[in-house]
Amino acid sequence: MEPIALHRDEHRWYEAARRRVSVRRYGAPPAEAQKESLRTLAGALARGGVRIVPLSGADEVFGHGLMGRRIAGVTYGVGFVADGGTPDWCVGYVCEAFVLECAAMGLGTCWTVGTYKQKPAREQVGLRAGERLLAVTPIGVPAGEALRALADDDRPRKPILKLTGLSDNEFEALPEWQREAILCVRSGPSAINRQPWTVRPEPEGLFLQTGKNTLDAGIAMFHAELAASVNDLRGRWSEHPEGWRFQLTPDEEEAPPEAEQPPETDTPDEP
Ligand SMILES: Cc1cc2nc3c(=O)[nH]c(=O)nc-3n(C[C@H](O)[C@H](O)[C@H](O)COP(=O)(O)O)c2cc1C
Repeated sequence: MEPIALHRDEHRWYEAARRRVSVRRYGAPPAEAQKESLRTLAGALARGGVRIVPLSGADEVFGHGLMGRRIAGVTYGVGFVADGGTPDWCVGYVCEAFVLECAAMGLGTCWTVGTYKQKPAREQVGLRAGERLLAVTPIGVPAGEALRALADDDRPRKPILKLTGLSDNEFEALPEWQREAILCVRSGPSAINRQPWTVRPEPEGLFLQTGKNTLDAGIAMFHAELAASVNDLRGRWSEHPEGWRFQLTPDEEEAPPEAEQPPETDTPDEP
């Protein structure tokens, strides 16, 4: 898969990762200029069989009659689409960049795999032969509080010990980029907030133990890579039986994820 040119937006997206929360109440759609710039970004991010497509009727997709209307006030959104041969993690990896750009614009989003109307959504994104709709997200101005930076401890997340096996002192002794990468993975969204991962620091890298072919895995990989990138470090992902290894690479090398075809798909469905 062609790597995402992180250097262009890395700081903006990294800061956004600290502000992003799932927004389920919307007050207004994005401004027209924001929609336009998101369409441009969707075009730039499309790669490896992944595309991001505006929903033509987001209000219907998130509308009345759906599980107590858990996500309300939606009038704009997109679908995350992949062709048949594209692993799910690629969709998580690519589309999280889009979600973070929305947050950088002050717009709310919510990765959604379960609580939306699948039939109209599939029709609205105009699936081509062999394509799948993996998730949708509403996009808009949050109805409540604006997005704001969250302290790491304000999120309902695994404690560092459970996430890494490290004591607080051991964690604080890590190089800055590894600490930031671990915290950035930790702040990432996951289905039902399962956080289906642990992160182990390694010399010149990290090991992300997780389901290999899930949206969640791709999101976590993007967050780790983003934190490395704001520390001027690049790396390369490789697939292993237990998950993914991120190995720092010398400056001049590019760092696309290596594996294109992990075998199983075990993305959990949200209720
Ligand atoms: C792959 C994925 C699927 C998700 N599906 C849903 C969903 O169907 N409905 C929903 O309300 N939230 C969904 N979420 C949002 C999670 O519940 C949310 O990310 C998690 O609780 C952590 O909260 P935060 O995003 O505010 O940090 C999903 C998140 C991910 C990453």
